[in-house]
Amino acid sequence: MRADELRELYLRFFKEKNHAVIGSASLMPENDPTALYVMAGMHPLMPFLLGQPHPQGKRLVNFQKCIRTIDIDEVGDTTHLTFFEMLGNWSLNDYWKKEAITWSYEFLTFKEWLGFDPEKLSVTVFAGDDDAPMDNEAVEIWRSVGIPDERIYFLPKDDNWWGPPGKVGPCGPCTEMFIVVDEIPKCGPDCKPGCHCGHFVEVWNDVFMEYNLKEDGSYERLEQRNIDTGMGLERTVAMLQGVPSVFDIELFTPLIAHIKKISGRDEPSDDEDRFVKIIADHVKSAVMIMADDAQIAPSNVEHGYIVRRLLRKAILSADKLGIDKGFMEPLADITIEMYKDVYEEVEKNSVFIKKNLKSEEAKFRKTLRKALGKFERMFEENGTITGKDAFLLFTSFGLPLEMTRDLAEEKGIDIDLDEFRKEFEHHRDISRTATEGKFKGGLADHGEEHTKLHTATHLLQAALRKILGDKVQQSGSNITKERLRFDFTFDRKLAPEEVQHVEDLVNGIIDEDLEVTKEFMPYDEAIALGAMAFFKETYGETVSVYSVGDFSMELCGGPHVKRTGTLGRFKITKQKKIGAGIMRIRAVLEPIDAS
Ligand code: SER
Repeated sequence: MRADELRELYLRFFKEKNHAVIGSASLMPENDPTALYVMAGMHPLMPFLLGQPHPQGKRLVNFQKCIRTIDIDEVGDTTHLTFFEMLGNWSLNDYWKKEAITWSYEFLTFKEWLGFDPEKLSVTVFAGDDDAPMDNEAVEIWRSVGIPDERIYFLPKDDNWWGPPGKVGPCGPCTEMFIVVDEIPKCGPDCKPGCHCGHFVEVWNDVFMEYNLKEDGSYERLEQRNIDTGMGLERTVAMLQGVPSVFDIELFTPLIAHIKKISGRDEPSDDEDRFVKIIADHVKSAVMIMADDAQIAPSNVEHGYIVRRLLRKAILSADKLGIDKGFMEPLADITIEMYKDVYEEVEKNSVFIKKNLKSEEAKFRKTLRKALGKFERMFEENGTITGKDAFLLFTSFGLPLEMTRDLAEEKGIDIDLDEFRKEFEHHRDISRTATEGKFKGGLADHGEEHTKLHTATHLLQAALRKILGDKVQQSGSNITKERLRFDFTFDRKLAPEEVQHVEDLVNGIIDEDLEVTKEFMPYDEAIALGAMAFFKETYGETVSVYSVGDFSMELCGGPHVKRTGTLGRFKITKQKKIGAGIMRIRAVLEPIDAS
């Protein structure tokens, strides 16, 4: 079975169980400022998992593109990828464990669906701890469909608890399903599901979401219980095709074949094979990120830094295989071809993607040799690589911290990350202006531009409500260093005069240089005072409220600017209808001309 067939079959199965098919969302999380990329199918659905009604009902199914850089060091084994797709079905306060598990079993093992041999299926359930009890209910259901006790394993929170994808949010115990790979023997007597040797491959995870993790680290029961399931598309296809790894399915073979050809490595050694896979994975991920409509280019901050890291690691790996420059464009073409019918944005943004691949490679190749030479000299001179060295390699040669760390690891050295950070802070303090927007690699922080755009988002929402009425409500927001993006409930595009009116209103507030104030108050009081709240459950009893004069008042964690006068000129750059009754606006802040 191919990937496109599995996508189709999965949607069909759950459609038959009355699920509505929803589309894949952008890779940029809209509702979660604590995460850079969507890392699971449930991520874009956060507001609905927290109680907001979904326009398409309580049972949903989809496939979602995901990025998980947390697994970046595993890439090259049989199952881990930084870009992957996840198939998922959701119950928003509708069905519960019995249906979820029974349907998972049916889809995996029945002949008319995936037809895996039930004997090859092992499952894990949550073993219980101080936060939540052992999941007996799940055990009973697995027994009832016929899984014998010796193939039901109990694992702790590290393995059998999911979420939240960011720092706070919905989560709960889960049950994972594993297919046994006969060709890879158990690695030892303790080998069991969760072990990474490749004998047990996890294909699906059913999460029983009944808790909310709060900022203070405590768990509270969610008022609404949800099911969130995630099936890894690439892994499941590999299992269905009986091939040894995700790199052997059609979503990788053309990339791998091309890399082997240009490097002249028909039969690579183990190390070389890993480089081949890293190149395929990382270039694909970077392409898929840049293909997103948010148009993220490689940079030294936040989202863009991830792209830079992926590309530079791919370039370094290519260099190790002696691959000449210009190798990324053909790989981008292959990737675009692979996904263009599934995700329409991929082809649309192809010019942007290739332009950035080219310039990133040119920039990095120029200093790569020097960086590696410098690294070796530093090592020879001191017998180690310090945090300070790593900082110098980054600022002078563009070598991402993580790559220096990898190179150091090969020599058995641990880099002192605290020292790197200290150096970074120090450097930032002494030359703030010169380094603005640079040298913040890997240290996710909310820079000045981000903060300004955040305040501008509040002003935009207030202006939209004043002009278009109270039916305007935020349904999503996403900010990069360059622009804000705001999704709201409204059923048509704004007329040019309305756009002008909104801009004028916001710019008027900027010109008034109003103070932005923050207060803490009980949630109910804030609401009674008319503060806007996006979704109730994520706020605690006491909430922080940001006000701009009496123009805007919103529940929010911040950060915001101190006065509106610092924002610049507000300008709407694009608007688009993105769904039934949902509009999207992009806007920027331009510096005010001093002349
Ligand atoms: N969110 C869960 C996971 O990523 C299930 O979809 O595994």
